[in-house]
Amino acid sequence: MVGLGILLGSLPGLVIHMVMMATTTSISLVLVLLFIPLLLGFGMMFQGTLYPVLYKKLTGSSVDVLTQRVLKGRKAAIRSGDFVVFLIGARANNDFDPYYQWMGDSMAKMWKELEDNPDLGCLSTEYYFGPTGHLTVQYWKSLDDLNRYARNMSNKHAGPWANLMAKGRMSSDYGFWHEAFEVKEGKYDAIYVNMPPIHLGNAIGSSLEDCKGKYTSAAGRAGKTDGSDYAKEIGSPDY
Ligand SMILES: *[C@@H]1O[C@H](CO)[C@@H](O)[C@H](O)[C@H]1NC(C)=O
Repeated sequence: MVGLGILLGSLPGLVIHMVMMATTTSISLVLVLLFIPLLLGFGMMFQGTLYPVLYKKLTGSSVDVLTQRVLKGRKAAIRSGDFVVFLIGARANNDFDPYYQWMGDSMAKMWKELEDNPDLGCLSTEYYFGPTGHLTVQYWKSLDDLNRYARNMSNKHAGPWANLMAKGRMSSDYGFWHEAFEVKEGKYDAIYVNMPPIHLGNAIGSSLEDCKGKYTSAAGRAGKTDGSDYAKEIGSPDY
């Protein structure tokens, strides 16, 4: 299902490409300029309603981004122990290719495996799509867990990875990347204002606490001050 979405998501690129080829530069430029705000506007309209429901249906994600779960006020994500932030992305360098669907579906199978087996070490998964391609944001217990999962041939990563590597060597149609950051306990700042639980705040083992005391300021949340350095000249922290 995710793969189908990704495949359909590349359709606008194909349409723009065809329009570009079929018309003069000035006409196609006008069409593209009209098309982009239309797409963005449509997306924005459903950001808080239809999109979260579709997202849950397509990805099977446990992330509940529905607006009724909004936590009012300022909340900080607090957890004990180090953790890893893992960003992994892929990009279709071509306009339209059925292989993207296969890639997307492989990705969804991995997410499900990780969610069904929390012992593997993945704490949460969220998926995004933007102008630079597809992005999955994950939190992990440790780099060891992450690498152990990635290399184990019994898991749903190694097979598709080998396939993708083979494809990647053959052509430059598929772009992919990842970044992994090890975060030390207490050495980070994660704040959510009037948001449903997301990201680190929604990861297994995290708690969301009111931004009071040392959690009042950004430096305080990152363990550098006692929180009293909040920039009061900008606004009150007590809303
Ligand atoms: C690989 O994964 C399987 C299934 O989860 C597990 O039984 C096995 O112990 C793992 N192997 C290693 C080397 O971690």
